[in-house]
Amino acid sequence: MQLLLDSANFEEARTCAEWGWVSGITTNPTILAKSGKSTEKTLVKLKKIISGPIFYQLTQETIEEMVKEAKLAADILNKQLVLKIPATEVGFQATAILSKKYTCAVTSIFSPAQALVAHAAGAKYALYYHNRAKRLMKNGKHLAGELVLALKRTDTTVIAASLKSPDELVQARNAGVPILTTTFEILKQMMRHDLSDKAVADFILTGTGLLDK
Ligand code: E4P
Repeated sequence: MQLLLDSANFEEARTCAEWGWVSGITTNPTILAKSGKSTEKTLVKLKKIISGPIFYQLTQETIEEMVKEAKLAADILNKQLVLKIPATEVGFQATAILSKKYTCAVTSIFSPAQALVAHAAGAKYALYYHNRAKRLMKNGKHLAGELVLALKRTDTTVIAASLKSPDELVQARNAGVPILTTTFEILKQMMRHDLSDKAVADFILTGTGLLDK
């Protein structure tokens, strides 16, 4: 199981790198626009901070332009690059071409049938939007399970995105999804429980640690 940060914020990326339990970073055009810097500068900087995979989403709409954009991303991110490619007819065609050279993730998947096409096109990952499926289709958890089942015994792995609470991460995981990406705030929330804080505070009061005088 892996947890990824869904952000292009340098401070958040740095903190996640320090935590040591966040495996990589996912971005999308909206997230990159928020960084306020050019996409190239943002990716160069993220690469200096994060040692794991860095997901970059293609924005172009023709095969030729997508291939060009993928090469530019690969020049910046090298082996850390995972190309996110939208689940559209052109996107699946681009995946079939680009997956021969790069690691590809088909994104915005909302049906098991799309997941099958992603696999057939050579994608290493099939990325779906858990909370959006829950809100718009009333079936986030169900979709997660369907995707996991559809891709069972293939080399394409499901990734859950659009996870809006720690509970949603648990839901996706319990439906069998092995990789989960979410915001910095939710990753932080996942570490905390009021009763843990209380238990730790009680132990500290005992003053029996090796460093206590
Ligand atoms: C996925 O790549 C996105 O960053 C994000 O999780 C999409 O969903 P949202 O806009 O509902 O959060």
